[in-house]
Parts: sequence; C-alpha cells; structure tokens
Amino acid sequence: MNSAKETFALETDDRRAVHGTVRPLVRLRFAYADPPYFGLAAKFYGDLHPDAAAYDRLETHAALILRLCDEWPDGWAMSLHAPSLRHILPLCPDDVRVLAWVKPMTSFKPNVRLAYAWEPIILRGGRPLTREQPTQRDWLACSCIDTSTGRLKGGFKGGKPEGLVRWLLAVMNADPADEITDLFPGSGDVTRAIQAWRAEGRLPLY
Ligand SMILES: C[S@@+](CC[C@H](N)C(=O)[O-])C[C@H]1O[C@@H](n2cnc3c(N)ncnc32)[C@H](O)[C@@H]1O
Repeated sequence: MNSAKETFALETDDRRAVHGTVRPLVRLRFAYADPPYFGLAAKFYGDLHPDAAAYDRLETHAALILRLCDEWPDGWAMSLHAPSLRHILPLCPDDVRVLAWVKPMTSFKPNVRLAYAWEPIILRGGRPLTREQPTQRDWLACSCIDTSTGRLKGGFKGGKPEGLVRWLLAVMNADPADEITDLFPGSGDVTRAIQAWRAEGRLPLY
C-alpha cells in the first residue's frame, strides 16, 4: 500500500509532476457551466446551437443544476446574468454562494437606464483551504472589453476573459492535477485559459 506521498508522485498524468504542491494529491473534479442566459438563449445562440432555445426555459436550467450537483459534488461554478438571478438561485441547494464578476468596462446601451455592469456566478463546493493558502474574495473586477480595439475580448458573445477563469480556479482552490470540465466551451477561451493555468503549475518529470 502506498503512503499518501507516494500516491501523490505516482498519480500525475502525462508524466508531469505538480509543481510546488506539497500536499498529498487527492484529485478532485470541478465543472464550470456557462450556459446561454435565461431569456437570451435563442436570441444570442439560436444560429449557433440547434437546442439553444431550451435555455429560455427554466426547467432546462433546473436540470443543469441537478446535473452539476450530481456529477460534480466536489464543486462547480455557473455563470448567469443579473436579471435571471431571482429565478435561478431558488433552483440551487442552500449551500451555494453568489459571487460577483464586475465589469469595469462594458457596453452601455442607450435605452437602458441602469447598465448591467456585473454578472452573478453561483458557486458550490471547492477544495478546503490549508492554513497557508490565502482567502479569496467573492468578487472580481475584470474587463471583458479589449481596450485596444474597444471590442469584446475573444469576439464571442458571452465569452469569458482569462482573468475570470483564473479567479474561479483560485476560488475553488483547484489544483493543476484536478479534472476541470468546461461544459459550454463556446469560443474555447475558457478551456484554453484552464490549459494555460494547468501548464504553469506543472514541471515535466523528464
Ligand atoms: C455563454 S456561451 C459560452 C461562452 C464560453 N464560456 C466562452 O468563454 O466563449 C454559451 C454557449 O452554449 C452554446 N449552447 C447553446 N445552446 C446549447 C445547448 N442546448 N446545449 C449545449 N450548448 C449550447 C452556445 O452556442 C454557446 O457557445
């Protein structure tokens, strides 16, 4: 029987070790869900996905939340827009937290009196902190506009910036060896951000 330390060394994949991590490896499974926002699904993604309109129905979001709780008990995060928080939060178990992604730069629409400049993120679970690990904030200010072009970073409607992904990984206290699933890849930027973060946390064994 291996000791926890030996298991840590043996359980790395791709012949790569977890860099700088001294705690024994318990590989957890996390998910990030960025579904079409309730009420905007067909409008935003009707031409990209044949079943986009399903996310204009609350029961589709309820089924997604049930799936997240069932398949990712270690932890998950889900993006939504502020107007749908009142509908979607009651579908969640009591132990979720609501985080805020504040967008210091965002497009202000002329017919909207009060701009929507933040988005909720519902979080459940996460790896407990060790004494040495820093507490994370429950909000992030991070722009989704590229200041050089004035356009959406990545150019994809609803696309999420790398800073947001890294903050969520920190909030979940994810480890590079964990399995992290991007359930609604869209542009692929979230998956790429996870891969970049993972690569930084690892050193080749040889
Ligand atoms: C908010 S976007 C995800 C953006 C992504 N996180 C990014 O950073 O680029 C939602 C994505 O879900 C896709 N989608 C729409 N309806 C879907 C459905 N019924 N099942 C799965 N994906 C769907 C859309 O085409 C879109 O790519």
